[in-house]
Amino acid sequence: MNNNRKVMDVTKFNPRFSLQSEALDSADADVWAVSDRAHELADKGEDVIFLCVGDPNFDTPEPILDFARARLGVGRTHYSPAAGEAMLRRAIADIESKVSPHPCSPDDVVVFPGGTNAIYAVLSCLLNPGEEIVIPEPMYIGYVPICDSLRLNVKRVACPAESNFAFDVDAIKAAIGDDTRVVMINTPVNPTGAMATPEQLRELAAYCRERDIWLVCDEMYSMITFARRHTSLRTAAKQLDNIVVIDGLSKSHAMSGWRLGWAVAHGPLVDRLIEFAGATIFGCPQFIQEAAAFALEFDTYFVKQMRDAYEKRRDLIVERIGKIPGLSCYSPEAGMFVMVDVSQVAHSEEGNCGQAFAEALLDAERVSVLPGAPFGPSAVNHVRLTLAADEGELSRALDRIERFVTAGNRQAS
Ligand SMILES: Cc1ncc(COP(=O)(O)O)c(C=O)c1O
Repeated sequence: MNNNRKVMDVTKFNPRFSLQSEALDSADADVWAVSDRAHELADKGEDVIFLCVGDPNFDTPEPILDFARARLGVGRTHYSPAAGEAMLRRAIADIESKVSPHPCSPDDVVVFPGGTNAIYAVLSCLLNPGEEIVIPEPMYIGYVPICDSLRLNVKRVACPAESNFAFDVDAIKAAIGDDTRVVMINTPVNPTGAMATPEQLRELAAYCRERDIWLVCDEMYSMITFARRHTSLRTAAKQLDNIVVIDGLSKSHAMSGWRLGWAVAHGPLVDRLIEFAGATIFGCPQFIQEAAAFALEFDTYFVKQMRDAYEKRRDLIVERIGKIPGLSCYSPEAGMFVMVDVSQVAHSEEGNCGQAFAEALLDAERVSVLPGAPFGPSAVNHVRLTLAADEGELSRALDRIERFVTAGNRQAS
């Protein structure tokens, strides 16, 4: 009998993981706790209204679907270049060139499966574990696991609620130190809808270049702006060699599930990004890239229709919230969310009013909103409401929120 084999059979496998995956595992699990509970209630048949996610509630426009079907039909289902299909890189370069003093070449563009992956690739190419990245907060929740898994040292810069979370170049500049390698900004911002002005972008770009620092700008909501048009960092900056812009179709074209995003960079960084994409993605699906190029070139009508709908929804929320005693919000210039200040009506020993409000609202009225704290300390007194719900659904939710708040007020008096 082989004793060694016997020992092997009874030995329990001891799973060991990389530091990278351990870092992800320890990420804050509370972010989606209220939303997870809302889903459990809905699964049990309860009438829950979900205002927590930023996934467009529109279908991808029909002409884009038709185009993708046609490309599938002619066999565009094979490997694709790591940098992306030429026609899509051209379409993206054309968009970037349209209003910019700096013409963009298709050679400056690298295609990724979604904005998240583009951000991951860019940060992977720019930073080593332990190195410092400066990011203003409130910030998109998705940055946290990316930075955690790359084990980056994140220095957060507060954009306080008192100034409507406005983009603050001076505060970012003050946070930049000798160890800073990258500044990453987001305009328009998820969750606040704040937008950087062209002058602010130009100033920050120049400062970062002077300090030999990369400036990465996530512009995922560039096509969902209300009062004024978005200006790309690439358009605003005078010099491009330290600049990276990230964008995609998830929001603007209601194509979140298609997974299509891109990075626009310059010189040697483009080569690094293509190498990274080659190693990790090995090309995005051909028919999706071609449908994306079609979307960028031909469907501005649908983008405008969706943007107009988001604007009406924003106005509805802002008007209704303004009439509920104790709640307040400002009207965001862009994006898919409204941040509501709940500090007058929610009480929390830990100083996390947004969390307390979101939990109690779900308990009492079955409306699921996202607490502000995971977006950063500046948002602890807020909850985030999505615009990705039609006006009827939003009205129903706002009726419930109003009933919840006024009931609470009655109890308190
Ligand atoms: C600011 C911001 N950046 C990036 C992303 C990720 O985009 P994608 O769905 O294309 O990965 C999101 C998604 O919500 C976002 O809000």
